[in-house]
Amino acid sequence: MIPLMNLRPSLEAAAPEWRARLERMFDRMHFILGEQVAAFEREFALATGARYAAGLGSGTGAIELCLRAARVTSGNQQVITSPLTAPFTGLAILAAGAAPRFADIDPETLLLDPDDAGNRMSRRTAAILPVHLYGQPCDLRRFAALGKILIQDACQAHGARHRAKPLTAYSPYVAYSFYPTKNLGCLGDGGAVATNSRRVAARIKLLRDGGRGSNHVSLVAGVNSRLDEMQACYLSAFLPHLDAWNAQRARIAAWYDAALAGCSAVRPVRRGAESVNHLYVVRVPHRERLRRRLAELGIGSGVHYPVPLHLHPAFAGCGAKRGDLVQAERAAREILSLPIWPYLGQTEVQRVAESIVGFYRR
Ligand SMILES: Cc1ncc(COP(=O)(O)O)c(C=O)c1O
Repeated sequence: MIPLMNLRPSLEAAAPEWRARLERMFDRMHFILGEQVAAFEREFALATGARYAAGLGSGTGAIELCLRAARVTSGNQQVITSPLTAPFTGLAILAAGAAPRFADIDPETLLLDPDDAGNRMSRRTAAILPVHLYGQPCDLRRFAALGKILIQDACQAHGARHRAKPLTAYSPYVAYSFYPTKNLGCLGDGGAVATNSRRVAARIKLLRDGGRGSNHVSLVAGVNSRLDEMQACYLSAFLPHLDAWNAQRARIAAWYDAALAGCSAVRPVRRGAESVNHLYVVRVPHRERLRRRLAELGIGSGVHYPVPLHLHPAFAGCGAKRGDLVQAERAAREILSLPIWPYLGQTEVQRVAESIVGFYRR
């Protein structure tokens, strides 16, 4: 059996660290916004090359609070984003009170296309929200050049840099998710915003905790989106492994590239050396039949994502219909995510690739 993802080896590799941290947490009996969260925020900021980080309840909360901190909170304000992402990207825009507007993706990288984003801008455009999908950073200079507030969905891009600079060099709003399967995950829900702006960091820390000042008085309409102490224990234990785990993901992706190179039916999604390879994604014909065959052989696979956001009932009010975003619609029919996790071996990668090559030979 080769599952799409396997968290167990990563958990075991860091067990002594998280056990020690949990013990300390239980000694202190402090479970919300205590020393573990504060320590992790410092460590995560350092690791991502940011000045500050704020630990939050989820990646969705991180995107929502970036928008709230940027005061993009009205239905008249549009946020241009990708239709090929987790629905949570779009839902966070709705949660902030703003309106998602979808632009098409680049057919090679499947990332939000800066030209199409530029073409769909209007007087209502308040922000651009590119998604560093599958671990590949978007072309941030081109998005920054559009001259709007730039909010980065880095929920799949822990450890990624762009043109050798930290993501926070391009905008003060970088949102991360620590959902368990991410390159850096906790064992429940969690998220963070990384920023170089002291003002943004302070605003997000205010908003995450009900907008409260002292004395239980809410100064602004905040939310409840706090990273908890227990998740911070796991995150601080996993963080020192992140670079090595990302390096191993890069090796696995290169093994797949080589093993699938001779199979013309399979087209790997283009990525650069900066990708942190959160997912390894190929485009294939007859995807559902291939998935069924892989499942028979005990090989897990996934589709990230099967339905572009403009076709979800939840986004029916966003003004795009079937046929409006052709690249995203086509990609959603063809993409397939193959097993990848830091301790996946070369023999297993070879077996997955051979099973795919064998399917198309039949
Ligand atoms: C690209 C992207 N954006 C946003 C999210 C939302 O993160 P979370 O599940 O932590 O709310 C995820 C993860 O699910 C994601 O992959």
